[in-house]
Amino acid sequence: MKNSNYLKALQQQNTDHYVPVWFLRQAGRYLPEYKAVRARFSDFFEMIKTPQVCCELTLQPLRRYHLDAAITFSDILTIPEALGNEISFIEGRGPVFKEAIKNGDNPKLDIGGFENLDYVFEATQLIKSKIDVPLIGFAGSPWTIFIYSFYGESPKDFNLVREFVAKSPEQTKEILATYTDVTIKYLKGQINAGADCLQVFDSWGGILDQGYEEFSLKFINDIRAAIDPEIPLILYARGMKIMLHLNATEINCFNLDQNENIDEYINKPITIQGNIDPNDFNQDEEKVLALAENIYEKYSQCGNYVCNVGSGITPDINPNKVGLFLQRLRVLNSK
Ligand code: CP3
Repeated sequence: MKNSNYLKALQQQNTDHYVPVWFLRQAGRYLPEYKAVRARFSDFFEMIKTPQVCCELTLQPLRRYHLDAAITFSDILTIPEALGNEISFIEGRGPVFKEAIKNGDNPKLDIGGFENLDYVFEATQLIKSKIDVPLIGFAGSPWTIFIYSFYGESPKDFNLVREFVAKSPEQTKEILATYTDVTIKYLKGQINAGADCLQVFDSWGGILDQGYEEFSLKFINDIRAAIDPEIPLILYARGMKIMLHLNATEINCFNLDQNENIDEYINKPITIQGNIDPNDFNQDEEKVLALAENIYEKYSQCGNYVCNVGSGITPDINPNKVGLFLQRLRVLNSK
């Protein structure tokens, strides 16, 4: 494990000419074996609250492919669920909360509910006992969790939340601070259970524009400051030009989305993960192979590069093409 190229890359110290790779949502609905397990549960939370099943779903992509890291199969909405929100996942619509701040409901912030998250730590321990690659623990950023509890579902436009934040900045920050406290305990719990590194998903940070540092990055920085500095923490700030904020954070590992230009970042003393458009895996075989070759050629000399997508693998991606890409990368890596 100490020799893991993934963990070395997170410290900008991967000098082995080996490109480590894993994918956002590497488990999920593009895999038939995932769909078979998912069909046994009517409720997504019932599924992720069963540690044996989380473990099985985490292992599925590792059995199928050669990957350099595992990510605990779970979701970023475990925290609001534990704090008292009733959440269901509706096919074609995504997550739906019973109550939403935009409808005048009070946010559910029952912090005693933290104890309900033990299932994630149990799953983490179980997964760790079965894998020989690093395990990534994760959480949503406080801002991104706030967005879901505000809208009660995946947002379609952002005017309402921008109005709310402008009118009630202090109330917004109180809610964000509560999510921050719980997230720190949650991530520490995952580390104690065996996670080797962490990723924070700020999927909706991009809607904040000038307010990004005040309403999102500040709280992610509080999380970073509370976690053992030896534990690498990767920030995924979708829709943000994170370059503009590098001086405002101690975080030094970033998962870029596909709209960023990775070449602006790669020569900096930070680790860069991501940036591939997952739709690229649906191209012709030759193009998929060329993608792997191009990545190896460009980045295998970089000590700070991790191959990954810029957003999660979606159900329309052909798992065989993903396999083709990974196989070619593996051959190049073992040269
Ligand atoms: O393999 C992995 O990457 C680990 C598992 C994982 C899931 N969700 C499983 C999941 C991770 C890391 C997440 C993170 C997550 N969840 C994010 C951040 C990343 C991003 O994409 O921006 C967000 C915003 C969520 C919230 C969420 N969970 C949404 C919007 C949805 C519906 C998505 C959809 O495709 O309909 C989920 C449900 C969810 N989480 C699924 C999976 C595999 C699909 C549920 C199903 O099978 O019914």
